[in-house]
Amino acid sequence: MQNAALSVSSLAKSFNGRKVLDDVDFQVNRGELVAFLGANGSGKSTTLKCVAGLTEPDAGRIELDGTELAGLAGRQLSLARSKAAMVFQKIHLVPRRTALDNVCTGGLARVNGLGSISPLFFSRDLREEAMACLERVGLAERALEKVGRLSGGQQQRVAIARALCQRATVLLADEPVSALDPLAAENVMELLAQLAHEENLAVAAVLHQPDLAIRHADRAIGLLHGRITFDAPVSQLTDQVLNTLYSPERNAA
Ligand SMILES: Nc1ncnc2c1ncn2[C@@H]1O[C@H](COP(=O)(O)OP(=O)(O)OP(=O)(O)O)[C@@H](O)[C@H]1O
Ligand SMILES: [Mg+2]
Repeated sequence: MQNAALSVSSLAKSFNGRKVLDDVDFQVNRGELVAFLGANGSGKSTTLKCVAGLTEPDAGRIELDGTELAGLAGRQLSLARSKAAMVFQKIHLVPRRTALDNVCTGGLARVNGLGSISPLFFSRDLREEAMACLERVGLAERALEKVGRLSGGQQQRVAIARALCQRATVLLADEPVSALDPLAAENVMELLAQLAHEENLAVAAVLHQPDLAIRHADRAIGLLHGRITFDAPVSQLTDQVLNTLYSPERNAA
């Protein structure tokens, strides 16, 4: 597709001889929010980790912003990879540092591949950009507070701001709302949809709540035992589709 920011084909991964991803193909376009659904262990996190470079796939092709990652090395690879930013299942922020300092580390990842380093290295330009990112997620007024003192929903926003400071075009959010109360979850999903629709980012979000996917995502991708069994607009997420994805019989080990 023309504007695919992320294109994955024939992705495969086994752990200890057991296939956990099998011939996975999908695209995420700029301007869309795609929800990844599937039972525990179906391969959602592994898929995102392969894209982010945190897990080495056994086979497959991954393109970010039209650049295939295989064959790249060193600085070229870090630059290509920096187009995708992972917003982790468990938020990986440094609690004793301020929101602003945490967001700045996203910029360092872009510039030199470093994800975390002393705030002494943060230039004025980087701090200004990080501040603008906090504004985009509605948290500018909490910029100088220690992250450990913010609520879960606010921390999730800081994590998203850090991804924005990385200037990623693809946001990979693994269960971004699973630890949040219903209202905070709605708000974070609204923010992700807004970043996709208004800032033309490509957003892939693993969700365990199909209703959130139906309300906020444009498309859903369903994984069952490491294979994609559904890839369509959320309007087609019928009870039958969901029953298949989550049925105990099909998900029995
Ligand atoms: N580092 C690893 N070593 C061995 N097995 C792993 C590793 N990472 C994942 N797996 C296995 O791969 C399978 C898919 O795991 P993955 O974390 O991708 O599932 P998931 O769909 O994200 O599940 P959940 O909804 O519980 O987060 C699981 O069976 C898991 O045990
Ligand atoms: Mg997971």
